[in-house]
Amino acid sequence: MPPPTILVADDDRSIRTVLTQALGRAGYQVRSTGSAATLWRWVEEGEGDLVLTDVVMPDENGLDLVPRIRRLRPDLRVVVMSAQSTLMTAVRSAQSGAFEYLPKPFDLAELLAIVARALTARSAAPAPPPAPGDEDAKLPLFGRSAAMQEIYRSIARLTTADLTVMIHGESGTGKELVARALHNYGRRRAGPFIAINMAAIPRELIESELFGHERGAFTGALSRTPGRFEQASGGTLFLDEIGDMPPEAQTRLLRVLQEGEFTSVGGRAPIRANVRIIAATHRDLRLAIRNGQFREDLFYRLNVVPIRLPPLRERTEDIPLLARHFLDRARDDGLDAKSLDAGALEVLRAHRWPGNVRELENLMRRVAALHPQEVIGAEIIAAELAEILAPPPGPPAEQPGETFSRAVERHISGFFAAHADGNLPTDIYDRILAEVERPLIQTTLSLTRGNQIRAAAMLGLNRNTLRKKIRDLEIPVIRGLG
Ligand SMILES: Nc1ncnc2c1ncn2[C@@H]1O[C@H](COP(=O)(O)OP(=O)(O)OP(=O)(O)O)[C@@H](O)[C@H]1O
Ligand SMILES: [Mg+2]
Repeated sequence: MPPPTILVADDDRSIRTVLTQALGRAGYQVRSTGSAATLWRWVEEGEGDLVLTDVVMPDENGLDLVPRIRRLRPDLRVVVMSAQSTLMTAVRSAQSGAFEYLPKPFDLAELLAIVARALTARSAAPAPPPAPGDEDAKLPLFGRSAAMQEIYRSIARLTTADLTVMIHGESGTGKELVARALHNYGRRRAGPFIAINMAAIPRELIESELFGHERGAFTGALSRTPGRFEQASGGTLFLDEIGDMPPEAQTRLLRVLQEGEFTSVGGRAPIRANVRIIAATHRDLRLAIRNGQFREDLFYRLNVVPIRLPPLRERTEDIPLLARHFLDRARDDGLDAKSLDAGALEVLRAHRWPGNVRELENLMRRVAALHPQEVIGAEIIAAELAEILAPPPGPPAEQPGETFSRAVERHISGFFAAHADGNLPTDIYDRILAEVERPLIQTTLSLTRGNQIRAAAMLGLNRNTLRKKIRDLEIPVIRGLG
């Protein structure tokens, strides 16, 4: 059998050369062109076993070609490459029927792996759903880091299947935004998107919230009320903070997912569940499973497609674009137009962002609202960041003989009082825990004279966990004391 032939279309000659060499070394035959018209002619003539095409070409957009290729030759797979690596490019290429989308610059090894997969994949991709209108202007997600490209590709791939998705990420990384994008670009986009936050509902009400209740099912149930499962019928049910779901509700949810139907609280007739589930959590569910707080079988039911949203500090290259976007939005909301100078961006990149994108969003809004300057410099950003990090001014004085938790309570009240102007930060939980964690680790370390192995043993922490916490909390390490 002759080696498979790859048709390469890209108006950039150097990319054609690189691809021709790499594919040739891997044993493929290659025909390359810089024009969409030539590519189309080859396809019409029955040439090639795989198409590798760029999006922007002088004569025609490569993406527009894909549905035509798929109609003419359903077995010929198309891999789309693009330097315009936004969520929309990823979604469009999936909806056009492309086999895979590859943001530029790409890794040659990854390219070869995709080519091999595309050549061996058997059945044709499902018929593409009609693409939504031109929405480039109101893209929901910003950022062009490699990490975000991965997210866009996952979202794009998921537009053609109703798979269950588990989104994991720290607070403020955009979990809900991704869940909404999955719905809005997915097959159920005409249906409702219903969100329910497990951490925000009293545990004894969760089951009735999810599955509804009959009249008289419990005191105060005055009429039959449908639950979120029923409301989301035909659409998507977003189970936010799934890690906070109480055990009984977990068992019930698992049964519904297994059986595909549920009954309301106090009801008998089973109702068919017709929802696509997207779950999200900031917790480490594997740890919760080990601690007996989360059902392992439920986890595997939900974790069909895991998506991990990286913290902002792991993708600082996205900060300028995000900051620009939030300043533009503040301007659209009637605040003055602002821009950041290079020094300001430097300060933003160096910050640790415990509140992630939400923290950046709030900061940009504050800057736009509070500072008259048109161009914002490093000092303003540094001052704003210092302001949030400053300890609350004077908590009420210590009481003699007070318990530890009373003391914590007193400090927390002081913290809230200090932010009574309504400018409450959005990462209080992490911040307060860090307040406790840091002195705990520091004191233990000074007791063990800097010996991390002994400190870990005393704390009952894994050594690597302790090391990570020391790094994350930026606790100075003093060596050679022991
Ligand atoms: N990539 C992004 N592009 C633009 N805006 C973003 C992005 N990621 C997050 N945001 C914005 O940041 C804020 C927080 O996002 P979101 O509510 O989705 O986070 P979350 O992970 O659900 O947070 P939490 O765990 O606190 O619920 C929102 O206002 C959202 O619009
Ligand atoms: Mg959220």
